[in-house]
Amino acid sequence: MSDEVFYLTTPIYYPTADPHIGHAYTTIAGDFIARFRRLQGRRVHYLTGTDEHGQNIQRRAQQRGQTPREFLDAILPKWKAVWDALDISYDDFIRTTEPRHEQAVAAFVQALHDTGDVYLGTYRGLYCLGCEAFKTPDELVDGRCPLHDLVPEEVEEDNYFFRLSRYRERLIELYETTDIVQPEARRNEVLGKVRQGLEDLSISRVSFDWGVPVPWDPKHVIYVWVDALLNYVTAIGYGTDPARFDAVWPADLHLIGKDILWFHTVIWPAMLMALDLPLPRRVFAHGYLLVRGEKMSKTRLTSISPHELVDAFGSDACRYYFMRDIPFGGDSSFSWEALRDRYNTDLANDLGNLVSRVLNMAERYLDGIVPEPPRRDEIGASEDELRATFHAAVADMTAGIDTIAPHEALRAAWRFVRKANAYVEEVAPWTLARDPGERRHLEVVLYVLLDSLRLIALTLHPAMPRSTREIWRRLGYTDGLEAPNLPDHGRWDLLPAGAEVTKGPPLFPRHEAT
Ligand code: ME8
Ligand code: MG
Repeated sequence: MSDEVFYLTTPIYYPTADPHIGHAYTTIAGDFIARFRRLQGRRVHYLTGTDEHGQNIQRRAQQRGQTPREFLDAILPKWKAVWDALDISYDDFIRTTEPRHEQAVAAFVQALHDTGDVYLGTYRGLYCLGCEAFKTPDELVDGRCPLHDLVPEEVEEDNYFFRLSRYRERLIELYETTDIVQPEARRNEVLGKVRQGLEDLSISRVSFDWGVPVPWDPKHVIYVWVDALLNYVTAIGYGTDPARFDAVWPADLHLIGKDILWFHTVIWPAMLMALDLPLPRRVFAHGYLLVRGEKMSKTRLTSISPHELVDAFGSDACRYYFMRDIPFGGDSSFSWEALRDRYNTDLANDLGNLVSRVLNMAERYLDGIVPEPPRRDEIGASEDELRATFHAAVADMTAGIDTIAPHEALRAAWRFVRKANAYVEEVAPWTLARDPGERRHLEVVLYVLLDSLRLIALTLHPAMPRSTREIWRRLGYTDGLEAPNLPDHGRWDLLPAGAEVTKGPPLFPRHEAT
């Protein structure tokens, strides 16, 4: 089991414009979960990428007088730069214009055709370019698609269709008997819609050519959503490396925003069912980041760049804020005030002050040298309680990640931070320092505190990879730096005696309101 790869994915984003913090939100959540699984000692495969075909991309390029390829190659570095700035530890980045993807998409759609689930028909309907999807009249508000505030275009053409309707019963059973769709509200939403009925899906287009040609009829290109969903299997070797595909598939978790629930919980499982492939274990749809009460979006020009936040607060603080402040699943308004409050209260005060106080005292009272760890008989009730708090925090964090509740995981981690702060107050090392008879006692409490900092950094590492490494560096602790993990490092008394501690500047200097 533990040797099995934990495979998780973000949506592949449309690189039609620069990334905004809505995109960053999903990718940070994925990164937090990926890093937590690695911390547990799991092998992880974290996939992200870009969705580069379709009419929308083709038009954007045309508007700029560029080929789609030129347009994409110019914008892609901006996407990768944002992930770098946010310390996203993806294991692979797939672009749907890569040969490994295009070949496998053609193979998949050919296989779908071979099963008899594909037929030629005529489609007449309204197409929203923002969604890259057909819309029914009841999905429109005053004739516009509310998701993108666009007037859909009337389309009539010959399309290949996938017999999606055939899978209605099996999908209903899937929602009713498994936890594949999370959270509950989203499961009920999709179950209700599928119960109402399911139509076949148009899976090819002839009016433009920026896509993967349909193998048996290359006038058509494959519908961009069919192409895009397949990234989850093409990136791990479907159609190109069967052994690798078998080793990594199915995905343990597809993280998505609730705007693309239908594609991931209806179309995607049905496509896999059609080819008798295993289904993803879980699809979790989170809520929207709102700006002025509406979904932040590029089409509405309400985008905020992740770089703005990182420049002001640092990547760790941004990651922490998004994961801690927003209950995962629901909608939430982004606000600079909330970000600053979290930063000042949790990071500058609780964590930052603890780190500087403890390192300060180690410099002042111990000449910056880590003392011997406590013997069994030197451990009192307060130390026992602190130790127990760490182990409980790890258990609760794990439960938080298992249920895809990053905010709960961090809330649990914070109980240990607070407990360590309370322990400082309780043992008051500064009074022990005044009494030469308490010398060993002082060493014991400072060892316990230094070791607590090491363990706090371990629990917070998935959320804040940068400052946690900095904490270890200041502790003179090099063991955990390579591949920090709970099985090896999540025990007390591992900070080596004799190591040299350095105080350093504040980790999170306070931010005053501007
Ligand atoms: O839909 N709040 O790409 P996309 C929260 N290419 N999350 C947000 C958000 C917001 N305001 N805005 C965007 C596509 N997101 C397809 C996906 S997958 C096979 C193909 C996040 O660029 C959220 O995760 O429109 C949402 O699902 C995703 O960006 C959509 O990105
Ligand atoms: Mg979108």
